[in-house]
Amino acid sequence: MKYPDKVYLNGEIVNPEDAKISVFDRGFIFGDGIYEVMVQIDGKFFYEEAHLNRLQEGLSKINITFNANELSPAIEQLLSATELTGKDCLLYIQITRGVAPRQHSYPDDIKPTVMMYAVPKILPDINKVNAKVISRNDFRWSRCDIKMTSLLGNVMLNEEAMQHECFETILYRDGCITEASHCNVFFVKDGIVFTHPANELILDGITRQIIFELCESLQIEIRETPISINDFDGIDEAFLTGTSTQIAAIQKINNHILYTDDKIGVVTQTLQEAFLKLKKEN
Ligand SMILES: Cc1ncc(COP(=O)(O)O)c(C=O)c1O
Repeated sequence: MKYPDKVYLNGEIVNPEDAKISVFDRGFIFGDGIYEVMVQIDGKFFYEEAHLNRLQEGLSKINITFNANELSPAIEQLLSATELTGKDCLLYIQITRGVAPRQHSYPDDIKPTVMMYAVPKILPDINKVNAKVISRNDFRWSRCDIKMTSLLGNVMLNEEAMQHECFETILYRDGCITEASHCNVFFVKDGIVFTHPANELILDGITRQIIFELCESLQIEIRETPISINDFDGIDEAFLTGTSTQIAAIQKINNHILYTDDKIGVVTQTLQEAFLKLKKEN
């Protein structure tokens, strides 16, 4: 992992070591902020509008007044300063409530802190990770639909996957799989795709939304019905989705093996190929 060459902070583009914020920034103190991640592929941000809309919705959910559309010229400046104009890269955007003396409630007139950076990122055509995952209790709060910067629950759950030399931790709440620490999760049973409904218990991933579009165009049935943790035996395929993960087939859940010898299930493979085509067309 490398630091970016430049950072955008509140209207200025500076070297990372010169990007300074107050220790009283509510993002630092409370994790009171929203973030977004998108990737530029072949000179164009993939599903940019959907990402910026989600950012805007997140900000309004936590009552931060900021117009995400105003970011476009700053994004261009940042890419140019980082020599990433037209190049494959990942853009991170973070908007916190801003700086105020520490107390839980916030003043009305606080100015949001806006930070962005871009780093080179070339995604593989198809993710061939053959993901091994563990399952854990989803102990996060019940507003996982908010893409907030306070990710301690996700960090702790992801770290457990790393300790087990796994790619991800899939999460269950009340016996049902919700999502994973930084991905959405899908299961395939008798040719039908299942995933948790996009309610307050999961982040409605942009890649998740793309899976719905692809299933519709490929005439693959998809249901927003959660899978029980006792159902793993009846599952034919499982996969993870995310902006950087794209679509990753799950090979193993705990000790339960879904496939061997890189033999990814047919529905997962079909979706991976359709996703690749979509990237090329975009
Ligand atoms: C908890 C969680 N779920 C799902 C996702 C996938 O979302 P997207 O496809 O928009 O990257 C992410 C991405 O960061 C995430 O953090």
